[in-house]
Amino acid sequence: MAIFAWKDEYRVDEARIDSQHKRLFEIAGRLYEAMQAGEGHRAMAPILDELIAYTRTHFGNEESLMQASAYPGFAAHRAEHEGLTERVLEFRRRFGEGQVALTVEMLHFLKDWLVRHIAESDRRFGGWLRVKTA
Ligand code: FEO
Repeated sequence: MAIFAWKDEYRVDEARIDSQHKRLFEIAGRLYEAMQAGEGHRAMAPILDELIAYTRTHFGNEESLMQASAYPGFAAHRAEHEGLTERVLEFRRRFGEGQVALTVEMLHFLKDWLVRHIAESDRRFGGWLRVKTA
């Protein structure tokens, strides 16, 4: 799906992180496709849950790597993760209550957040890892 197509410029050059980012894009792409196909709540909810669960797994893994490498930007980076998690969980709660439809705007928010966070914050951490392991 074009909106969540992976690009090389998103690479942070840490194999596990890059692999997890690709998977996040893949799940988000499936969610977008389901929305585009007019799938109902029942079809979309499990994909949204998968995206949330995998995002948490990824954030946890990334934060562990930061702590293991004594990354000085850890606290600020974790705060970004927490901000996204809170926002998506709030959305999920409202989605579950039927208060909102899963909108194009939400998926664009996710896309913008993922791209900006990966291109800026995650790549900054990738640079730190390269210096630490050089
Ligand atoms: Fe890859 Fe900081 O999330």
